[in-house]
Amino acid sequence: MNKAFYLETFGCQMNVVDSERIVDLLEGIGYAQVDAAEKADLVLLNTCSVRDKAERKVYGHLGRFKPIKDQRPELIIGVGGCVAQQEGEKMLEKIPYLDLVFGTHNVHRLPELVQQVEAKRQRGSATEFLDRETRLNLFPQRSVRDNITRFVTVMQGCDNFCSYCIVPQVRGREVSRPSAEIVTEIESLVAQGVREVTLLGQNVNSYGSKDESEISFAQLLRRINAIEGLERLRFATSHPKDMTDELIDCFGELEKLCKHIHLPVQSGSDRILKLMNRGYSSADYLRKVARLQQVCPEIRLTTDIIVGFPGEAEADFQATLELVKQVRYADAFTFLYSPRSGTAAAELSDDQSSMQKQQRFERLLALQNRIGEETWQADLHKVLPVLVEGESKQGEGQMFGRTTWNRIINFTAGTDLIGTIVPVKIIKVFRNSNLGERV
Ligand code: 5AD
Ligand code: SF4
Repeated sequence: MNKAFYLETFGCQMNVVDSERIVDLLEGIGYAQVDAAEKADLVLLNTCSVRDKAERKVYGHLGRFKPIKDQRPELIIGVGGCVAQQEGEKMLEKIPYLDLVFGTHNVHRLPELVQQVEAKRQRGSATEFLDRETRLNLFPQRSVRDNITRFVTVMQGCDNFCSYCIVPQVRGREVSRPSAEIVTEIESLVAQGVREVTLLGQNVNSYGSKDESEISFAQLLRRINAIEGLERLRFATSHPKDMTDELIDCFGELEKLCKHIHLPVQSGSDRILKLMNRGYSSADYLRKVARLQQVCPEIRLTTDIIVGFPGEAEADFQATLELVKQVRYADAFTFLYSPRSGTAAAELSDDQSSMQKQQRFERLLALQNRIGEETWQADLHKVLPVLVEGESKQGEGQMFGRTTWNRIINFTAGTDLIGTIVPVKIIKVFRNSNLGERV
């Protein structure tokens, strides 16, 4: 009989990619994926530590598995991803019913760790960072399963050390993959039916910048744009300081590049941006946004903003509100600052109360909700090209796809349209998706 595994993924797209690799690896040692821990012989959490809330979730979820293990002691429980990387072997001491821990550079060692537990009930962890060469050989290749859209990792790690951020500690230093390998992978994906790729990296637009012999990120986009059969191209996540003019121009030149960019600003206050070690001022950021809008008038921006950074005063917060009003983001992910131990900002003193922070957070949310709603409502009755990705969860006969702005559209159609771009009229605008009809 086949063994079964249950996998839950938290956090960013990097973890999604790693989880796709985990599925392949576990299938390779005789496991099939199931949708509930109760049915599994092996349960895994792929974790995120970017904020305290994400980290606490991991412990909460592990607790849910304990009663299952009490009933079935042979159940194997494992933790991977960023929390695993940070905590390492300590997690095995803290959680007696945990069997294995694997870090962000050690996904490939999962089969070995699982087999050790199976054979000898030997608990294990693998969280060492690997050298550049080894990492370049391990960039996750995953099998295609009827995917229309696909993430392709082009670089990993981060050297920026924004003062609030744990990522450089849990994902290691920056490495870029050879461009020829990326192009070959995308050509092969397209041959297997993929129509849209999203290039991924913690700081994707610094791709190649540390390697003299490598082409620039903008040149990489041009090469990918030329791949026949590929319909759409996206990338995430970009750092404003690495938005070169050459890269901005791509939005005016490359017909496959979607007219959307996620460009985290984090704050509108120059004082706070400096404390965050972001490497740009609000004026620098706004200049780049203006150029993007100039070369590509239809472009829509989304962003990440942190509220309540240590010492952020009302005037700093006002500057963020002003910037949000000026840029008019289509969407924004807003976060309350969460101190991460080992980061520079965790050492800063803070004179603002948590009530002040919470109130500001809500003011920002209200402003952004209004701007976001105005942006999306403006699409009502428009006919927009939609790349059809598959059957929608909304019900029988419903398909879903996305616009160039990455907005989800549900509409009635047949499965024969999957993988094609079709015109769809927007008939209802919801908070996070739209309802459309074929025209
Ligand atoms: N506290 C709050 N938000 C954070 N982010 C990263 N680190 C922290 C932190 N310590 C946010 C940033 C980043 C997004 C992925 O998470 O806005 O862009
Ligand atoms: Fe979370 Fe950052 Fe790890 Fe992604 S890289 S899972 S956002 S901590």
